[in-house]
Amino acid sequence: MAQVIDGKAFATKLRTQIAKAANTLKEQHNIVPGLATILVGEDPASSVYIRSKRKQTKEAGMRSFHHALDDSTSQQDLLKLVDELNNDSEVHGILVQLPLPDHIDPMTVINAIDSAKDVDGFHIENVGRLAIGDPQLVSCTPLGCLMLLKDLHGKNLSGMNAVVVGRSNIVGKPMAALLLQESCTVTVAHSRTKDIEALCLSADIVVAAVGRPEMVKGDWIKPGATVIDVGINRIVGDDGKGKLVGDVDYASAEGEAGAITPVPGGVGPMTIAVLLHNTVQAACAQNGIEPIMDMA
Ligand code: GUN
Repeated sequence: MAQVIDGKAFATKLRTQIAKAANTLKEQHNIVPGLATILVGEDPASSVYIRSKRKQTKEAGMRSFHHALDDSTSQQDLLKLVDELNNDSEVHGILVQLPLPDHIDPMTVINAIDSAKDVDGFHIENVGRLAIGDPQLVSCTPLGCLMLLKDLHGKNLSGMNAVVVGRSNIVGKPMAALLLQESCTVTVAHSRTKDIEALCLSADIVVAAVGRPEMVKGDWIKPGATVIDVGINRIVGDDGKGKLVGDVDYASAEGEAGAITPVPGGVGPMTIAVLLHNTVQAACAQNGIEPIMDMA
């Protein structure tokens, strides 16, 4: 049976280190890392995410500045708020919760954020820096996956074959770039990939981030491989009740994998912890302070 990778415990440990780093920043530099969140409209899932982000920000001894905007807010008014936050020295990180209403272009808004405050790592400059191997702020979910992988493999992933299933800008592409940076041999599989099963079977590391419930089966997994499941899908179980499943068919994969992240409790809890990590890093960088924490 595979070792279960406890992302929840790792995220808790990471948050403790973040709180210590935030405390050091306050004691030694009189800086309290501040994260501004912007939510446009009242999408229920987004509201839940934002509540967790704000709660965990405050629990880590950091400042949370929240801006709840009506869903009729114009792009111009949103850009004005982003500009104000860019110029606010108490705000070290800015997060605009996605998705945005249809009348607002997300890339225009994201690229209006000062790249040094783009703690989501979505700004085109941060994406480009990661692509050329000089990352500044990196997308939270893939960075969290990398932290789990490095923790498991004694920090050294060099020479491993990694297959990333999914090519989204938020997870698949930055995940591939991070693994390449770690000297893995990386393949990105997607909906048009031929013989995806055989490809996954060649992998020492499989990262599943496609948003298709239980797509990756146990017989796609090389015995002993590490499986990171980014998927969070709500399905109706055999008992007629709703349940959360990943992009990996856990029941069949746990017998093949050497280590595997469960859903829930695997990658999920890492995302917000890494957001706080990025905010501390951003606060250091904006004040000319050497990074206090270097988890990745
Ligand atoms: N919506 C769903 N996930 C995310 C995320 O990681 N960042 C932002 N800004 N919006 C999201």
